[in-house]
Amino acid sequence: MGPSSAKERIDQLRKELHRHNHLYYVEALPQIKDEEFDRMLKELEELEEKHPEYADKNSPTKRVGSDITEGFKQYPHEIPMLSLGNTYSREELSDFESRIHKTIDGEVEYACELKYDGVAISLTYEDGSLFRALTRGDGDVGDDVTNNIRTINSIPLRLSGNNFPRRFEIRGEVLMPLEGFRKMNEQRREDGEQVFANPRNATAGTLKMQNSSIVARRPLECYLYSVATMEDLFSTHYESLQICKKWGFKVPPYSKRVGSMEEVFAFIDEWAEKRRELPFEIDGVVVKVNSFKQQKQLGFTSKTPRWAIAYKFKAQQETTKLVGVDFQVGRTGAVTPVANLEPVQLAGTTVKRASLHNADQIAMLDLKEDDVVMVEKGGDIIPKIVGVDISRREGNPSPVKFISHCPECKTELVRLPGEAAHYCPNAYGCPPQIRERIEHFISRRAMNINAAGATIRQLYDEGLVKNPADLYRLTYDEVIRLERFAEKSTKKLLESIRESRSVPFNRVLFALGIRYVGETVARKLAGHFGSIERLKEASLEELTEVDEIGERIAASVISFFDDEVNMQTVESLITAGVQFNFDETEVSQGSRLSELTFVISGKFEDYSRDELKDMVTRNGGKNTSSVSSNTSYILAGEKMGPEKLKKAERLDIPVISIDDFLGMLQG
Ligand code: IVH
Repeated sequence: MGPSSAKERIDQLRKELHRHNHLYYVEALPQIKDEEFDRMLKELEELEEKHPEYADKNSPTKRVGSDITEGFKQYPHEIPMLSLGNTYSREELSDFESRIHKTIDGEVEYACELKYDGVAISLTYEDGSLFRALTRGDGDVGDDVTNNIRTINSIPLRLSGNNFPRRFEIRGEVLMPLEGFRKMNEQRREDGEQVFANPRNATAGTLKMQNSSIVARRPLECYLYSVATMEDLFSTHYESLQICKKWGFKVPPYSKRVGSMEEVFAFIDEWAEKRRELPFEIDGVVVKVNSFKQQKQLGFTSKTPRWAIAYKFKAQQETTKLVGVDFQVGRTGAVTPVANLEPVQLAGTTVKRASLHNADQIAMLDLKEDDVVMVEKGGDIIPKIVGVDISRREGNPSPVKFISHCPECKTELVRLPGEAAHYCPNAYGCPPQIRERIEHFISRRAMNINAAGATIRQLYDEGLVKNPADLYRLTYDEVIRLERFAEKSTKKLLESIRESRSVPFNRVLFALGIRYVGETVARKLAGHFGSIERLKEASLEELTEVDEIGERIAASVISFFDDEVNMQTVESLITAGVQFNFDETEVSQGSRLSELTFVISGKFEDYSRDELKDMVTRNGGKNTSSVSSNTSYILAGEKMGPEKLKKAERLDIPVISIDDFLGMLQG
């Protein structure tokens, strides 16, 4: 490559890499695979080496990406937070070993660990308590996310034992296990919110939230894998982690000490297969020189340690041919493009369909008919298309176009400003929207009516059920006539509908399917307002006063109750006997806790602290935050503050469990 074209390529690569760094670290919305990023970075490194005349200290090769975000305080890391050199090839692992033996005479032991696909974090402890948590940031300074980190159960707030240094830093990875990630995405899909592309993005997005009570409900975990400022205390990395485990940290499971590269390869082979059985995602294996003395001898390059390397697995990805694109209309009217594919084996299953998310995604991929596409599993059950193999495009195919009208009811689609999705606005006339609303209404976590999707389809097609309230008008004669229904199944369905009348108000509110009102928000609103009468009268200000209810949710609630059809449905449901306020027993309990003052401390599995506080006030009691001689009871959850406990003992105040508390409410 001649000098002028080399310069052009260097500039182009730098620009692209800066852009992708930003997308990855700041937006948490990467557009390309790690492999592609690493390939570009390597190309740039090679070009810069050949052409030192174009050196630039701000080149992406000279720094790790930055995740610094506005709105967080920044603090410096005690020692820089570096990244790892990485490779996809075994030859390069052998080169890594040869380089080590140039410096080190004699035996080298390696610690092999899994490479967690999450977000790096650095924790500082002082006098045995968590003092501060910083993200990597730009490697020198990081964002202070301590309040969010405190909500992660696997991070000790106080350490066990007493032989730890007065102040030290420990580093690791925050991640979201797959099951929690899938549940969360499922909920977001139901609530009409944008889903996260993979657990790593979900983790990055969560750690950068301003409201730590939302973070507390996200299923995050943390593995600590490096002692940053304590190398002098231990002789090996492995030993250091064993001790950290004793202090209460969760350290990498499945790690192994080995004496040769052959054994390193065996570890890699083992986990390339077994990774699919893990409850979280890994993207490779990290190999570290175990002895701290040898680590010191090897030292660092400007960006990475010479004593460790990451071997990255190729993404679980396959190529296949695009057969066509369907457009599906969901409960909220959001239209999702779904690609039909020639069947292909991917990570143990046959993939025939993949999500394309929205119109922007199709445009970004520049997807054309009959393209050969790359599909990947991003932790979600639904695989997605991540790229197009343009080299295999033939002729001059037409671009895949997003539709302008609803495929089901032909209404023109709308796109709200600032939203990625297109919507079919015909909420009450568009069959899949109606059916899905009814299916949501009867679902297990909502009204828990025992019927299948197929049944709802039958009831709808026969014209028997056009909205949830119609369910309560169904008669035995109407149901028994339906195909596949006999006496027993008919009775069972009607019985299940009858029983749903005692489902508590918060779940009824969730069942209504108000946009952005998921289970948790429904519980908050029901707890705060106590009845549909009060909720539907609430103004935007009153709604946003409720903890965690922002303007977007408030506006959605208001527009739901402004709608004539929704109000009619609610009226009919009230007439049918469905619960639209907290039930009589609870209301008449109104004074069960009068004269009593509660301090609620710690975490509870099924209730947030705010919900419990609401329960106290609804029953006539009072809440305070600090323990004093006026406190009647301390309601203690997991990890209650030790100071509060000590004070309670001193003042002889009874400490009760959640079960005791619920018992009190029931008398
Ligand atoms: S050790 C000097 N061990 O991968 C850096 N890192 O690509 C020491 N990672 O920055 C890092 N699992 O965020 C280490 N078992 C593990 C890891 C791990 C995941 C992350 C970490 C690091 C990145 C490098």
